[in-house]
Amino acid sequence: MKIIAKEKIAENLTKFIIDSPLIAQKALPGQFIILMVNEKGERIPLTIVSTDKEQKSITIIFQEVGYTTKLLGTMEPGESLYSLVGPLGKPSPIKNYGKVIVLGGGVGIAELLPIARALKDAGCKVTSILGGRTAELVILKEQIKETSDDLYITTDDGTLGKKGLVTDPLKRLLEENKDYGLVFCVGPLPMMKAVADVTRKFKIKTLVCLNSIMIDGTGMCGGCRVTINGETKFTCVDGPDFDGHDVDFNELMTRQKRFIAHENNAMCKLQEKIKKEGL
Ligand code: FES
Repeated sequence: MKIIAKEKIAENLTKFIIDSPLIAQKALPGQFIILMVNEKGERIPLTIVSTDKEQKSITIIFQEVGYTTKLLGTMEPGESLYSLVGPLGKPSPIKNYGKVIVLGGGVGIAELLPIARALKDAGCKVTSILGGRTAELVILKEQIKETSDDLYITTDDGTLGKKGLVTDPLKRLLEENKDYGLVFCVGPLPMMKAVADVTRKFKIKTLVCLNSIMIDGTGMCGGCRVTINGETKFTCVDGPDFDGHDVDFNELMTRQKRFIAHENNAMCKLQEKIKKEGL
């Protein structure tokens, strides 16, 4: 559980390579880990971006958005995490779907990379669409390009690719040709909802990777519950991939906001600590 390497890949986005022989041996695309920075800390789920069986390590990329991810970002190579559990969740259903479109937004691009690679290795023709607020936040472009037959990029401010949303090229592609076996999307909830709304009209199978708030990661606490086609499911054991046309996104977006007050309080305390201790 020792951090072997650390790299800042964009503002607030950090990559860690972590020594983890057992997880490196077993993890499959789409699976995730839950880590704790310290004994009293929160547990956070993070997708395994890649594994290195020889180096016996896993790679994770995280966005420093809340208390725990900020604290994680202060850790340095040589330091050890308090705990690391995984691989968790069901692996993504990888097979040759023919032509596929994969979409990633923000840090979701890191989560998309292993899926895109696996789909390509399974024989799919992969069209990738990446999006972000601004050029710097469209990460891992080269790696995604290597695994794609076509790549489209959109940014909110037009600093890279076309100005607009990932749904713009998606709509265009589907209007030109409906012959896609799968659309796979990982990104912020509003983006996944928008993508599912587009593909619903074209009746194309669409998987989204949900990253809900998790506690135990074993299906026992109910913290990560989501409503799928009217039924309660647990993201940690039934997911993280679900049919995007069946997800109750509005309920999930409301649930994701329920700890905002606690989070803001914890962030203020952390910022004071960082200032005082110069972390
Ligand atoms: S994290 Fe507890 S049920 Fe999924």
